[in-house]
Amino acid sequence: MFLVGDTEKGRQVGMENGGQDAMEEEGRGVMEDEGRAVVEGGDVAAPDPTAVRVALWRALHVRADPAPHVLVDEVGLRLADPGPDRFARPDMDPERTRAPRASIVARARYVEDLVAAEAERGIGQYVVLGAGLDTFVQRRPEAAARLRVFEVDRPGPQTWKRRRLEELGYGVPEGLRFVPVDFEAGDSWWDRLADAGFDADRPAVVASTGVSMYLTRRAVTDTLRRVAALAPGSTLVMSFLVPSALLPPREREQQRAIQAAARASGTPFLSFFEPREMTGLARAAGFRQARHVSADDLARRFFTGRPDGLRPSGAERLLVASV
Ligand SMILES: C[S@@+](CC[C@H](N)C(=O)[O-])C[C@H]1O[C@@H](n2cnc3c(N)ncnc32)[C@H](O)[C@@H]1O
Repeated sequence: MFLVGDTEKGRQVGMENGGQDAMEEEGRGVMEDEGRAVVEGGDVAAPDPTAVRVALWRALHVRADPAPHVLVDEVGLRLADPGPDRFARPDMDPERTRAPRASIVARARYVEDLVAAEAERGIGQYVVLGAGLDTFVQRRPEAAARLRVFEVDRPGPQTWKRRRLEELGYGVPEGLRFVPVDFEAGDSWWDRLADAGFDADRPAVVASTGVSMYLTRRAVTDTLRRVAALAPGSTLVMSFLVPSALLPPREREQQRAIQAAARASGTPFLSFFEPREMTGLARAAGFRQARHVSADDLARRFFTGRPDGLRPSGAERLLVASV
């Protein structure tokens, strides 16, 4: 059960010196709470633990799995800076985390390939819902240079990420916009996106990976409706979890354990969808086309011929929907 022990939630991450002043100057309402930086709405300026976990899995893929690597991302690890024992945590066991780790790199690669292709054909906006420690802008600067990238996430993790990007020397380029929103707090990410410079008359790629499972169904369907109302030519890629009953027995057990551990660590999975249900919801929300990308599809595309047998878990799937 490898999610247990992931207790960074609310952890103080390097806000002791300097960062407070800088953020107050930028008018983002940072307060001090017993030595911790807290942003408006009560969020602690620290990364979300689930975002740290997937960033570490992406780095673990580079370190524990032989080449060819599906994705090379160690920037997220640098951002998270989780200390020398970073891979000693139970949820970083290289053997037991093979399938979820493969899913994480496959979904990121799928999205990044699609974004790069869409940028080639002139799509200029990329929205990352629940961006966490996404590092597309830092790793793919040529593709990012053609785009305006909007990272949407809770205010606290965003404050922390902005600070880490500055500290590591990446900075925040003009084309990268942070959009602080809590999807569950009645906050309209749609309005905030417009405030950040999103042009609703132009098409966009919208990615939401590793987020829907932490949201209520209402928030997920609301997101579908909002994205379906974007300009024609827009595309959504959203990952979702299927009910464990749909999985083969071995994976089912593993998925139940992961679910129990997610609950125990304070980030429970709230929403599961059968693939046909998800594509149906997308069409009902107004998408012109909606298709399901299975773990087998991802395995064929990114893991064929690997001697190590690495392949993604069947638990997480992708919805790809076009406006
Ligand atoms: C597992 S991480 C995924 C990060 C990134 N998309 C990836 O694939 O690496 C989930 C992200 O969703 C964000 N998130 C979860 N619930 C949210 C909410 N209610 N409002 C805004 N962001 C939320 C978390 O802060 C976190 O960054």
